[in-house]
Amino acid sequence: MTDKRGLFITFEGCDGSGKSTQASLFIAQLQQSGFTVTALRDPGANAISERIRAILLDRQHTEMSPWSELLLYEAARAQMVAQQIKPALEENRIVVCDRFFDSTTAYQGYGRQLDLQLVEAANRMGSGGLLPDLTCIIDADPRLIRKRIVKRLGGADRMESAGLAFQERVRQGYLRIAEAEPLRVALIPGDRSIAEIQRHIWQLFVSRFQRILTGRDLGEGEI
Ligand SMILES: Nc1ncnc2c1ncn2[C@@H]1O[C@H](COP(=O)(O)OP(=O)(O)O)[C@@H](O)[C@H]1O
Ligand SMILES: [Mg+2]
Repeated sequence: MTDKRGLFITFEGCDGSGKSTQASLFIAQLQQSGFTVTALRDPGANAISERIRAILLDRQHTEMSPWSELLLYEAARAQMVAQQIKPALEENRIVVCDRFFDSTTAYQGYGRQLDLQLVEAANRMGSGGLLPDLTCIIDADPRLIRKRIVKRLGGADRMESAGLAFQERVRQGYLRIAEAEPLRVALIPGDRSIAEIQRHIWQLFVSRFQRILTGRDLGEGEI
């Protein structure tokens, strides 16, 4: 560990909760405030991890075992941590990542109901022990998310009831994570407008890391 260190911020939540929308608004606001930001998505963000992402998201891979799925997520993450996150933090950058290991806890642990202790051990391997400084979980009822999707697709309802039960377990998993780690994890109500949620996240960031915003260098070990 070096003394110099940037900031690592992750966005989490169910599919369609608004993570990517909020992550890009947050990144734009950071850049407007003069920060150098490294924007990543997990899985992905480099050649090796993007190839693993393509394997994970391929709808034809219906035979994928849940353990294979878990380990592929961790493999993609390990590469991103080594190749991108750690070097960026050492350069005092702010790293913003769309999903990180809390997704694995919520989806593979709570959603697929794999042994939570094993999932957590795998997470430690995939992340190399790196913890986000702040994790914003955008919490929204899967039924509200479904309504948004239906509205966007003009009446189509592609989410099946089994899908809804899975998303509900994932949501409960996220709520447990937020409860267990209140210092690292902030639960952001996702049933507001995009602008309101954006303001909420920015205020949270400003209040947590005020010293950075008032002109101190990043990474002096006081953040
Ligand atoms: N607060 C919100 N209110 C209404 N619609 C939203 C809100 N946040 C996001 N959306 C819309 O919902 C969809 C999913 O958002 P997205 O950011 O892609 O979610 P995620 O990355 O969590 O899957 C997008 O069409 C987006 O414009
Ligand atoms: Mg997204």
